[in-house]
Parts: sequence; structure tokens; C-alpha cells
Amino acid sequence: MKICLIVGTRPEIIKMAPVIHECIRRKLDFFILHTGQHYSYEMDQLFFKELELPPPRYNINAGLKSFRLQIGMMLRKIKEILVKERPGIVLVLGDTNSVLSGALAANQLNIPIGHIEAGLRSHDVAMVEETNRIITDHIATELYTPTTESRQNLIEEGLDEGKIFLTGNTVVDAVFQHKEMVDKKINVFADLGIEKGKYMVITAHRPENVDVHERLKNMLAAFEQVHAKYRLPLLWPIHPRTQKMIKSFSLAIPGCLTLLPPMGYLGFLQLEAHAKIILTDSGSIQEEACILGVPCVTLRDNTERNETLTIGSNVLVGVEPSKIVEGVAQMLSRDTRWKNPYGDGTSAKQILDIVLKK
Ligand code: UD1
Ligand code: UDP
Repeated sequence: MKICLIVGTRPEIIKMAPVIHECIRRKLDFFILHTGQHYSYEMDQLFFKELELPPPRYNINAGLKSFRLQIGMMLRKIKEILVKERPGIVLVLGDTNSVLSGALAANQLNIPIGHIEAGLRSHDVAMVEETNRIITDHIATELYTPTTESRQNLIEEGLDEGKIFLTGNTVVDAVFQHKEMVDKKINVFADLGIEKGKYMVITAHRPENVDVHERLKNMLAAFEQVHAKYRLPLLWPIHPRTQKMIKSFSLAIPGCLTLLPPMGYLGFLQLEAHAKIILTDSGSIQEEACILGVPCVTLRDNTERNETLTIGSNVLVGVEPSKIVEGVAQMLSRDTRWKNPYGDGTSAKQILDIVLKK
């Protein structure tokens, strides 16, 4: 059976990588369809290179477009490719516009859809990703859920239990496959002039944070306050969206922040693994911090990674400076020996076993 693997953005490439490698290991008939939603070298090709992935058979270059135009273009072009290739199943991962378009295209052509990372819910429908997830889950043929909570979300929405599979999240596979090897290959501490365990990491890219002047300004003020309290280097590999918005709002970057270009996965993983704490609004980074045993402070009002709150690896603080400072203090005082709820690093294998059995 031919398998179509759709990717479009940085986290999809990283988290689909274990599935791609497992397809290669099993000598399966598969191809990668890249929507091109992310297209800058350090948001895209860098990961293909670092993670030793084969090049996509197709790239439809649908980046840098408004939501409506992007979904329209992706849908039309993905359908053309699926008509030509006729795969037995289309696998999508996560909740981006690329995921929604890939799932809609397959659905319209009656091609089975497997949704990796199914069942996550923030219950915030103002977030485009929440709508993307719900629609994708409801038209998918197979739902690979990372946790019992995500499985329960799908059951509560009335989805057939027979098509829901608890597989863990491929983010664990990716972390486990690279964590040991990374330390033999690179040394970001020497490169950045920092000491292991004696720095904090920041990332932010959610439109509700970085596209809103007041919220972005608040976050910068909060980071200054955190620095004043702990006097540790604050490293911020900055997402292109955020870089663009800081420029367009003409905001001054506090001198205590070290802004870096987006990093490769290996360097970023090493940076995360030895951070004192991570402050982020990213979805996957909440998971990675939890897997790596690093405290996380989430700069959002809600999360679809609720498991991290339950086990205590993460706290939700929004963007008010006092709440961020309080959240950092709270997380730094916690015991970090929580149990990772995202699986044992065999998700890609489990997912492909299910795909092939069906
Ligand atoms: C997208 C996803 C988000 C995911 C994130 C991962 C949707 C709705 N959003 O958000 O769920 O968490 O990817 O990073 O699908 N840009 C570049 N180069 C790139 C990519 C983006 O310069 O390679 C800049 C462009 O100005 C672009 C902006 O970033 O307009 C936003 O990119 P876009 O893909 O629309 O959304 P993200 O914020 O990256
Ligand atoms: N990441 C990376 N380099 C960076 C920042 C993040 O490789 O400079 C990785 C990170 O390890 C995680 C993924 O990118 O696997 C997270 O992507 P992002 O935060 O853009 O998206 P989200 O997970 O929120 O959809």
C-alpha cells in the first residue's frame, strides 16, 4: 500500500521524521508531500538535512499567504497530487493549515486519512488550530492519540472507539532518537558562551501573543523582570513571525535578551535539555520540556497539552508580567521527577503497525 505523508511546518517535519524513518526501515512504498507552509531554510530544509530525511516528492510552495488563499491553494494542489499518486492512506500530523488541507483533500477523494496527534483540545475555538484539529479528527479514518486524555476527548465527541488508537506521541521518538547522540555531535554551550543549567530559554510565535502589540510588549517587560530577579542569560531563538512583528511594532529588545535565529533541532534539543526553565507558547515545546524533565512556563491562557499541567511539568500564566514572574518562581521550586505521559518512544512503529494491519 502506498502511503502519503504530508508535512508543512517545522514541528510537522520534526515529529513526522520518526514515521518517515520507520517507513524507510520497513521498505514501504511512501512519498512526502510538503505544502511549503514553512519555507525559510532554517524553518524547513535544515530539518531535512539534520534529520537525514529524503527530499519531498512534491512541494507546493503555499507559504506566505492569507488563511483563505493558503487553504484554497493547498486543497487544490494536494488533490491534484493525490489523484495522480492514488495512495492507500494519507497521514497528517497535528493541527496546522497544512493538516486541515491535506485531510480535506483526501476526504474529498475518499482516500483514508490517518491523523497523528489526534484528540488534543484547548477548548478555545478562537484558535485556528483548534478548528483544524476538530475537523481533521472528525473526517479521519484512523486516529492515533498520544494520551488517554486525548483518547477520552474523541470518545466524548462521539467518535467511534474502533478507530481510536493510543500510540503515544512521535515527539518522544524524536527526542529519544537524538538526545544521546546530540551531545557527541555538537556543543551549543561553547557556541553560545553559556554554562549548562545556567540559562533560560524563551520561544513565542502564537498570533494571539505576538501579533498583538500590548501582549508582545508585556512579554518583553516580563522577560526583563525575570532577568532582573535571576540574572541568568535568556536565550530566544526567534520565530520569523515574531521577528516580523517586533519590527513592525518598532519594539525595543531589552538588552538582557539574547535573540538568536531559529535553531536546528539538534542544537535546540540540547539547549532545551539543559535549560533551567523554558518559557514558551509553543505546543511541542511544552511536550519536549516535559519529556526532558525541564520546568515549563506557558505564555498562554489555555493549552491543549493539559497532561503537562496535571503532572506538574508546566504552568499556564498568560502574558501579564507579574504572572510570568510568579510562574517562573513556582516552577523553579517544583520537583522535576514527573512521569512523561506521551509514550515510550515507539509511536511511529505502533502507528505504522496499525496502518499496515488495516
Ligand atoms: C504555523 C501554524 C502553527 C504552528 C507553527 C509552527 C497554522 C495556522 N499555524 O504558524 O499552528 O504552531 O506554524 O511554527 O497553521 N515565516 C517565514 N518563514 C517561514 C515560515 C513563516 O518568514 O518559513 C513568516 C512569514 O512572515 C509568515 C509568518 O511567519 O507569514 C507566519 O507563518 P505561518 O505559517 O502562517 O504561521 P506560523 O505562525 O508559522
Ligand atoms: N524548534 C527548533 N528550533 C527552534 C525552535 C523550536 O528546532 O529554534 C523545534 C522544537 O524542538 C519543537 C518544534 O520546533 O520540536 C516546535 O515548533 P514550534 O514551536 O514552531 O511549533 P508548535 O509546536 O507550537 O506547533
